[in-house]
Amino acid sequence: MSGGHPGPELAIETAGLVKVFGENRAVDGIDLAVPAGTVYGVLGPNGAGKTTAVKMLATLLRPDGGEAHVFGKDVVREADAVRGRVSLTGQYASVDEDLTGTENLVLLGRLLGHSKAAARVRSAQLLEAFGLAEAADRQIKNYSGGMRRRIDIAASILNTPDLLFLDEPTTGLDPRSRNQVWDIVRAVVAQGTTVLLTTQYLDEADHLASRIAVIDHGKVIAEGTKGELKASVGSGSVHLRLRDPAQRPEAERVLRRALNVAVQLDPDPVALTATVNGSASDLGAAEQAARALSELASSGITVDNFALGQPSLDEVFLALTDRNKRSDPESGTMNDSTTGVSA
Ligand SMILES: Nc1ncnc2c1ncn2[C@@H]1O[C@H](COP(=O)(O)OP(=O)(O)OP(=O)(O)O)[C@@H](O)[C@H]1O
Ligand SMILES: [Mg+2]
Repeated sequence: MSGGHPGPELAIETAGLVKVFGENRAVDGIDLAVPAGTVYGVLGPNGAGKTTAVKMLATLLRPDGGEAHVFGKDVVREADAVRGRVSLTGQYASVDEDLTGTENLVLLGRLLGHSKAAARVRSAQLLEAFGLAEAADRQIKNYSGGMRRRIDIAASILNTPDLLFLDEPTTGLDPRSRNQVWDIVRAVVAQGTTVLLTTQYLDEADHLASRIAVIDHGKVIAEGTKGELKASVGSGSVHLRLRDPAQRPEAERVLRRALNVAVQLDPDPVALTATVNGSASDLGAAEQAARALSELASSGITVDNFALGQPSLDEVFLALTDRNKRSDPESGTMNDSTTGVSA
């Protein structure tokens, strides 16, 4: 590829990447730059184009437009070189349901050219590391969903790949299994592998990824570090706990007037949450929140607990995807309740 990027080595670089299915532009001109050695999160709702993009990068699907390079190699013209450096969970490393965990990993290790002894050692190491030692001699068809996901990832890192694609690795897992997969991802990255992680879960991207691209309708609608994404929607979250639940309706009115935003009533009867729109006012988010607090006090409302934080990635995501829908004339009827802007 053309020489000399300033800055860090890029594991992935795409420019105007497109994939069309019939009339559907599933991936509609995506530009990505994924620094090597990091977890990069691709976040988007169902049908956003995540899997389609990953398949093109993993050379399983041919792009209809634009370019993509993996470690500087073109995914179409130099597909073999790309394949030698990447692994995709659930695709290249397909496990056999009728074989045990050990049998699967040893077989795949042999296929990758390891000696029988080396394949056994690596298999035992991985099963131990992934908390599957006890299930090593059980057939995969008797694994739980979480165990199945872990053996899939184990199989995909038998040879440590330079770039690992994890396409929604924790969808449908319980919190404990999800945490185990997260630990595995962290361990894989600590060994020097770059991970491209797609997810619909904002907290997953929040926990694992250094940078995040938010995609919707085949386009990148925001990109940056978590802090940058949160700052880009220019807001903070105010969380309040009152002493007396009977004062909540009045507190809601005061807050709504003071901040000029919608106020959410939490399931907890003494709690309220409001999003402060920092960029909509001359006052910063903290000053607006302070003013709201003093108005609550002068209305005789007792506040026991107050916190001003960054918006969660969930709030950012809703704001971004909603903004995207608003700029799309075909869906101009979207309700605007999610942005918290009230008249
Ligand atoms: N092989 C295919 N043929 C036709 N349409 C396809 C094909 N693969 C994907 N699509 C369409 O392309 C769009 C993007 O799909 P894709 O699977 O990439 O989304 P995704 O972001 O991975 O969604 P999910 O979170 O549900 O996995 C969808 O509208 C989907 O229906
Ligand atoms: Mg998908």
